[in-house]
Order: sequence, then structure tokens, then C-alpha cells
Amino acid sequence: MTTPKKLFIKTYGCQMNVYDSERMAEALGGQGYVETKTAEDADMILLNTCHIREKAAEKVYSELGRLKPLKADNPNLKIGVAGCVAQAEGAEIMRRQPAVDLVVGPQSYHRLPAMEERVRAGQTALDTDFPEEDKFDHLKSRPKARRAPAAFLTVQEGCDKFCAFCVVPYTRGAEVSRPADKLLTEARDLVERGVREVTLLGQNVNAYHGGMTLADLIRALAKIDGLERIRYTTSHPNDMDDDLIATHGEVEKLMPYLHLPVQSGSDHILKRMNRSHTAESYLRLIERIRSVRPDILMSGDFIVGFPEETDADFEATMQLVREVRYGYAYSFKYSSRPGTPAAERADVPAEVADARLQQLQALITQHQREIQNSMVGRDLSVLIEKQGREAGQMVGKSEYLHAVHVENCSASVGDIVPVRITEGKTNSLAAQMR
Ligand code: SAH
Ligand code: SF4
Ligand code: F3S
Repeated sequence: MTTPKKLFIKTYGCQMNVYDSERMAEALGGQGYVETKTAEDADMILLNTCHIREKAAEKVYSELGRLKPLKADNPNLKIGVAGCVAQAEGAEIMRRQPAVDLVVGPQSYHRLPAMEERVRAGQTALDTDFPEEDKFDHLKSRPKARRAPAAFLTVQEGCDKFCAFCVVPYTRGAEVSRPADKLLTEARDLVERGVREVTLLGQNVNAYHGGMTLADLIRALAKIDGLERIRYTTSHPNDMDDDLIATHGEVEKLMPYLHLPVQSGSDHILKRMNRSHTAESYLRLIERIRSVRPDILMSGDFIVGFPEETDADFEATMQLVREVRYGYAYSFKYSSRPGTPAAERADVPAEVADARLQQLQALITQHQREIQNSMVGRDLSVLIEKQGREAGQMVGKSEYLHAVHVENCSASVGDIVPVRITEGKTNSLAAQMR
């Protein structure tokens, strides 16, 4: 028997990259690779990259510089770049860092086995096409290995929205939905491997149209025995239709958590961002969602310091946050991205943007803490994901996606246990079994 080659994948960016990294590991499993957790003993290193902000993209080059010397120790080592930087920069990556053997865009992962053979033969391989076929169709699956109880399932990719600041429509291409029957089969397979919770992923997941709507896909998934929890992310306000809202009141397995980015609370800025919704229409939407599911925990994304953002525009964002009260929210300083329409516009001074970011993050953190602390004394259920640091402690997630440490816990990984929340900590909750 030949010894297996070792694969190290480092994943940056969004959850879709996490899902893709798992699929790449499966594809290369068919080429005789097993995964390793350290770059030092790998025969193949893949960086699955993110291009969303300048810092994210630059990180890749510094990481490649750090990895390059490993080639001196292991002449068999091949280095590849996948993901959104690969798509955006293509051959430029090999010019900037000649230690790179392989560059593969997110739409071409089913072609990885052939690319691997090319680089093993001493050549370089580059593929940033947008092929027609479903990139997940041809992947060789490993034996039915046990999976962690919470899994991602990509149902939709790409984006047609073209927000003025965003690279995703260019790096991931046009919106494509995977066929519902394949997704239901994949979900049943995940359940057989021990999965109890799936998070349906897409850059615009609620624009899903793979033979049925997202609402109907959720209803169909809810019928799978053994699948106990369903979530979906990321949604766009314009695709949040009445039927999908209704599922939040109707489908018990659909968890009361919704990530619905708005980006700004100023209509002027929203217009300049090409978001095609207003702050008011967004607030009314949340009102409708809360009318069917009053306890839903809202999550969002914000960009501060977008070109032309005034103090009044920023105050409108603060006001919107005060009205919504997010359980989680992610806020970013605007980063100008090459090729996007907003890149042509004058930036807000960095110190102004920094100050706004601090102010917004302080408000968001305050709400996050308050909402988390309001869970104390409540009876929730926790999907157990792993052992905790202390004896007898198990760690999992509540319905609202809070991390929960269950003390003196007799349950196993994969169990969903009833608990009472006893304490709010900085980034988690403590609980006792009921
Ligand atoms: N498809 C999702 C996520 C896109 S990227 C959506 O539409 O919501 C995740 C987040 O990164 C965005 O919601 C936005 O807040 C942020 N982002 C995207 N481009 C950015 C940029 N150029 N500068 C700063 N933040 C950005
Ligand atoms: Fe980017 Fe906008 Fe598409 Fe989200 S909806 S991926 S922010 S272009
Ligand atoms: Fe980043 Fe690409 Fe995801 S740019 S956020 S990895 S879609």
C-alpha cells in the first residue's frame, strides 16, 4: 500500500468557503490524500481565500510568503490557491508568488483531481472558468464518514444584485441554484452520518429557485426524520417573500435566527450602494417577521464609511440599529475593491470611518450582551457539539445560535438537550440540564 499524501486546507472568508473546503478534501481524497492539521507535514497546501475586503486579500500573499520555505524541506510539496482571490486575480497570483503551483476558482473544484495530476507532473495548473455543470456533481465522495452534528449545505451560489461595493458577483458569478432533489438526497445522507442541524448556504440564499422556492425546500427538509434543526444564510431583504416569512411561524424545525444584512440605515447611502430597498421597508419587513415569530433573533451586516456617508447618514444607521436591536451584527469599515462601481468614488477620511465603526460596534455589543443576558433563567434546548474544557461540561448551540456550556452534562455529542440558562458570560451562556 502506498502511504497517503497529506492535504492541508486553510479556509478564509464566509461559510460557503467552509463548505467548499470540505468538498475539495473529498475530491482530493479520491487522489489518495488525507487531511492534516499542520502545513509543515503537508504534500499539498490549499488556501481557500476571500476577496471581500482589501485586508482579506492581502493576508493571502503574506501567508504564501510564510509557506514558501516549506518547499525546501519537502520537495514534493505543492501549493494551491482556491476561492475568491483565485477567481479575482488568476495568473497574477503565480506572478506575484512563483511558489504557487495551482490556482482554482470557486466554480471549478470538480476539476481539482485533474489539476492535481498536472502539478504532480511538474506543471502549473490554472482554472478560473465558470463551467456550466454543477461543481459538486463530480466530486468523489469518501466512505460514509461520521460527521459533526451541525453541517452546512450550499443550495445556491453567486449573486446578481451588484451592490456597488461588493466583489461577490464577480468572484462567484451569476446566481445559480442547485436542484432541490439533489439537496434533499444530500441532506438525507448527512443525517445518516449523524447530522442533526443543517444551515442552508447561499450568497443570496432566499433567492433560491432550484425547482422549488426556499420556503418549500425548508418544508421538504423538515419532513426528514432525524433532521431536527434548519437554518439558512445569507438573505437579501428584497427576496424575503411572504411565503418564506410564513415558514418562520409554521415550521417548528426552522430555528428562530435570521441573518438579514441591511448595510446602512440611510436611504441616500442605500441608493448609492445599489441596494434597492429603504431603511423603512427593511424595518417593516422585520416587523412582519416578528409578527409570525416574536422571539426571532435578528442578525445583520453593516458597512460604515461608504463614500459620501455624512454624520447624518451614519446617525440613521445608529437609529436603525436601536430600532432593530440585533442579537448579533457584523460591522465593517468600507474597503474599496478594484472593479466595483464604488471604487471610483472618493473615500470618507479613514479617521472618520474608524470613529464611526467604534461607535457602531459599541452599540451593537451593548445589544448583543443585553439579549444574551436576557436568556438567563430561560428554558432552551442545546444541540451538543463537543466536550467543554471543564470536567462534565459539554458545549453546544441554543436555538438562537448562542454558544452554551452545559455543566454536569450526561448527554453525548449530537443530542439535543433541554437546559435552563444560569449565567451570561462574555461570548457564551452557562446552563444546567433540566
Ligand atoms: N451575500 C451576503 C454577504 C456578502 S459579504 C449579503 O449580501 O449579505 C458579507 C458582508 O461583507 C456584507 O454583508 C458586507 O457588509 C461586507 N462587505 C462586502 N463588501 C465590502 C466592502 N467592499 N467593504 C467592506 N465590507 C464589505
Ligand atoms: Fe454582495 Fe450585495 Fe450580492 Fe450580498 S447582495 S453578495 S453584498 S452584491
Ligand atoms: Fe469572501 Fe468569497 Fe465568501 S469574497 S465572503 S469567500 S464569497
